[in-house]
Amino acid sequence: MNSINQIPIDYQIINRIIRKNGLESIGKSSIREIVKLVNEIEKETGEKFIRMEMGVPGLEPPQEAINGEIEALNNGVASKYPMIDGIEPLKQEISRFIKNFINLSVSPEGCLPTVGAMQASFAAFMVSCRRDPEMDTTLFIDPGFPVQKEQHKVLGLKYENFDVYNHRGDKLRDKLESYLKQGNISTILYSNPNNPSWICFNEKELKIIGELATQYDVVVLEDLAYFGMDFRHDISSPGKPPYQPTVANYTDNYVLLLSSSKSFSLAGERIGMMAISDPLFYRKFPELKRYFSNEGFGYSMIFGALYTLSAGANHSAQYGLLEILKAVNEGRYNFIEGLREYAERAKAMKQLFQKYGFELVYAKDEDQPVSDGFYFTFSFPGMEGRELLKELIYYGISAITLDITGSERTEGLRACVSQVSMNQMDDLEYRLKRFQEDHLNSI
Ligand SMILES: Cc1ncc(COP(=O)(O)O)c(C=O)c1O
Repeated sequence: MNSINQIPIDYQIINRIIRKNGLESIGKSSIREIVKLVNEIEKETGEKFIRMEMGVPGLEPPQEAINGEIEALNNGVASKYPMIDGIEPLKQEISRFIKNFINLSVSPEGCLPTVGAMQASFAAFMVSCRRDPEMDTTLFIDPGFPVQKEQHKVLGLKYENFDVYNHRGDKLRDKLESYLKQGNISTILYSNPNNPSWICFNEKELKIIGELATQYDVVVLEDLAYFGMDFRHDISSPGKPPYQPTVANYTDNYVLLLSSSKSFSLAGERIGMMAISDPLFYRKFPELKRYFSNEGFGYSMIFGALYTLSAGANHSAQYGLLEILKAVNEGRYNFIEGLREYAERAKAMKQLFQKYGFELVYAKDEDQPVSDGFYFTFSFPGMEGRELLKELIYYGISAITLDITGSERTEGLRACVSQVSMNQMDDLEYRLKRFQEDHLNSI
């Protein structure tokens, strides 16, 4: 089928599928709901979408990880429960990885494999947000990954949030302090590079966050799901600067959330990592005994949170992760090189969007343009994000709205570049051009 003739896609078909899925508004739908909707439209119309809604790695998994897992399975690990806090060689290798690529010393004891960074944040919230009954609220530095707020809802935890875009640089201090002074904030969470905006905090901002975390005794959960993917700084040489920027250089009150999904293209294995600073791991919070059998932060994380969630992470996946980390630590595998493909796609896609009248929403990292990476954000003049998303679906382009990410920029959408290949750029161009021609009136 010649896809180009079908654009825009038949309104009636799409509207029927939207109704069938019971979606009140496409703009308010979760990422997974949009995935389902687009799958159905593609199936019924035969029209291949430019899919930008979900952050799925679009690259092959590294062979080292596959071999490590196969070997472990052949050695019989499938029938054995792993230790909750992880197999010993992996704990050592995570600690080494953190030293090599962040220049940080975290003892293997505090390096814990988890079922994705998704479980790492869930477990971290279970402990960090319950250290003190007076400090019962998390502060999200937004925009952010919507599921982490869902995790708060299912845990019955409170949160506050603000959109950081207008509070960059020195302005961040006052904004953060206005929340921390209230006395109710236990935990701060942000992702860096940021999902969805791809802004990256600089050293000055990380220092501000770290200093205030120490001053107000707040724990920072630093979500490094896109580890090393600010491609402006090549951190890929083990043990050599530059390193992944981190708040950990400025406070001991940190837990790092690390994902293997994007950096190592292992999303399907659901294996991630958590690293708790040594001082925090051993610190005691008597109020934790309201929920756990022990008052130790690290102890509660392992024998309270991770035990009750899944009693540890998949045994063979731990061996897969071990092998890739070994290869990366020994300099045999450059994990950044292959990922640069995402930056190339982002660059090409941003150019096309801007050529056809779209604008970048989160465009600046303080005074520099935001780098090209896994996500970018865009809008179309005169349209709110929800309306734009709905309209783009008719042109076979899917994304998510920024308003589900805690962003104040309700006109914006998030595009993920991972599922769009370079040979789809002509198709994307045709669709964007048609969209612009058909929507000139709204400008
Ligand atoms: C900011 C952020 N944190 C955490 C995750 C979850 O990562 P994982 O696949 O390791 O569970 C994602 C996945 O998209 C993410 O974007």
